[in-house]
Amino acid sequence: MKTVHTIAELRAVLAPKRAGGVAMVPTMGALHDGHLSLVRMAETPTVVVSIFVNPTQFAPHEDFDAYPRDLDRDLKTLAMTGADIIVFAPSAREMYPDGFATTLTVGGPSAGLETYFRPHFFAGVATVVAKLLLAALPDTAIFGQKDYQQLLVVTRLAADLGLPTQIIGAPIAREADGLAMSSRNAYLDPHERAVAGNLNKVLREAIARARQTGDLREAEAYGAATLKAVGFDSVDYVAIRDAQTLAVIAALAQPARVLAAAKIGKTRLIDNLAF
Ligand code: PAF
Repeated sequence: MKTVHTIAELRAVLAPKRAGGVAMVPTMGALHDGHLSLVRMAETPTVVVSIFVNPTQFAPHEDFDAYPRDLDRDLKTLAMTGADIIVFAPSAREMYPDGFATTLTVGGPSAGLETYFRPHFFAGVATVVAKLLLAALPDTAIFGQKDYQQLLVVTRLAADLGLPTQIIGAPIAREADGLAMSSRNAYLDPHERAVAGNLNKVLREAIARARQTGDLREAEAYGAATLKAVGFDSVDYVAIRDAQTLAVIAALAQPARVLAAAKIGKTRLIDNLAF
């Protein structure tokens, strides 16, 4: 395993490995089993794992400063996989040099949902992901389906820019009670952690209700009310959408996805399920 901190070093280290195939797993660190499941999905001999807490995807009031950072621990976690991993851990200055003035905005799947609550988020994600993919030029890049809207935005971005990288969505890794693995789960105290386990259960109930009644708006309202009833402090959305476009749908005529974002204390959790 090798750790590099600059784009030039990354390209130099990758040059002799490129012919064998390169996968990339972009992360913000604080690695957990969910990230390792992304690394395991790589089908190439070499995997680049980027670790960069990207400032441009956080609003000033969000948790950029509090976001867990422990590079030594992350490196030990990755070393245990035994894979041929190159860790790309750039500084903020490496990614955003003095005078940086470019921001990418993606239309289509960026509309609505997360954008209502985090208007800056997808421009920050799109800009940094484009930079990461251009730095490594991997054959594949693997993103978790937990950030489902992000996965669609990144897929759109790669297609629109003609990047030579296939974007792969990986199944959501879950704790025993169904809670989607997330670096932000570390913020939860024991009581909040117990409440958090209900997010996935309530989404399953909302799906059952939508199937039973066919009334998707009622199923969303039921999901949001139930999340409040089980202890979430606020619910940003429970939404049943077209799985490909995230457009609002009136009936279950095509593959659908139920997506949710809700807060317990200061921690905002997201999850989604296909149906
Ligand atoms: O999902 C994440 O961890 C981040 O949004 C990503 C894709 C690494 C971009 O900073």
